[in-house]
Amino acid sequence: MPRANLVIGANRGIGLGLVEELVKKHSTDVVYATARVPAEAKELQEIARKSDGRVIVVQLDMVDQASIDAATAEIAKSTEALDEVIVNGGAALGISAIEEVSAEDFSRNLDINVVGPHRVIKAFVPFLKRSKAPRRVLAITSSAGGSLGFADQIWDMTKAATGQDFSPAAGYFATKTAVNGLIRQWGLRLEGDGIPVVAMHPGLVDTDMAKGMPGAIPIAESAAGFIAVIDELDPSKIKEGILSAT
Ligand SMILES: NC(=O)c1ccc[n+]([C@@H]2O[C@H](COP(=O)([O-])OP(=O)(O)OC[C@H]3O[C@@H](n4cnc5c(N)ncnc54)[C@H](OP(=O)(O)O)[C@@H]3O)[C@@H](O)[C@H]2O)c1
Repeated sequence: MPRANLVIGANRGIGLGLVEELVKKHSTDVVYATARVPAEAKELQEIARKSDGRVIVVQLDMVDQASIDAATAEIAKSTEALDEVIVNGGAALGISAIEEVSAEDFSRNLDINVVGPHRVIKAFVPFLKRSKAPRRVLAITSSAGGSLGFADQIWDMTKAATGQDFSPAAGYFATKTAVNGLIRQWGLRLEGDGIPVVAMHPGLVDTDMAKGMPGAIPIAESAAGFIAVIDELDPSKIKEGILSAT
């Protein structure tokens, strides 16, 4: 049975890799793929052009409610239900030691990484609820850097990797801790509907965001692992915390 998927933040990096993996692995699925500026999303547009109508590019900016409303209306023209929603878009602002992170950067980063996912989850949960597919999933790209349990270990790893005595991604990591809380609250709320809500760690991935970080893995490897995890999702694992694509 062909599935209808939505990938938010799909014009570059891991999101583009997720679209490529879905097209390759699930050759009959439809993929709605969002970009803030579709006209500039050349690679995604090229994938859509070759997809026989299976990849549909939609404008969506997670910090702009009007754009989210327009995207839901656009998608509703061709489907009333989505089987899989991946909220992948994110940003790392104010890269510096935590005491240097300005309130403005932190606030903007929270808007993109936490309030943004909340806006789009609110908008697309009704589509997931209307799906009759036996397997539905809402996955949000988080980061192991947002895990409280791993915070000390990641602090040590980051310092070792950068050679600095601080973690330059501290503010960003705090936004991912916050989104993990949001994901769990949505998960508890949607448990009764049989919709698993999962926080995904994509690994340290060679994208614009992780430029220059030693040990970053190729996008395709992360995307393949990400889709494999959500394809074979064991809902009992979700309460254990963030699931890793690697
Ligand atoms: N790379 C890593 O090692 C790593 C590790 C852990 C977690 N992550 C997470 O993985 C996700 C993807 O990151 P990436 O590494 O692929 O980074 P990236 O190459 O910088 O791509 C970020 C993506 O998010 C989109 N985005 C940014 N702000 C948005 C907004 N307001 N609304 C909708 N989309 C928005 C970007 O669109 P534009 O092109 O329009 O800016 C782009 O498509 C992020 O959530 C990130 O936090 C990455």
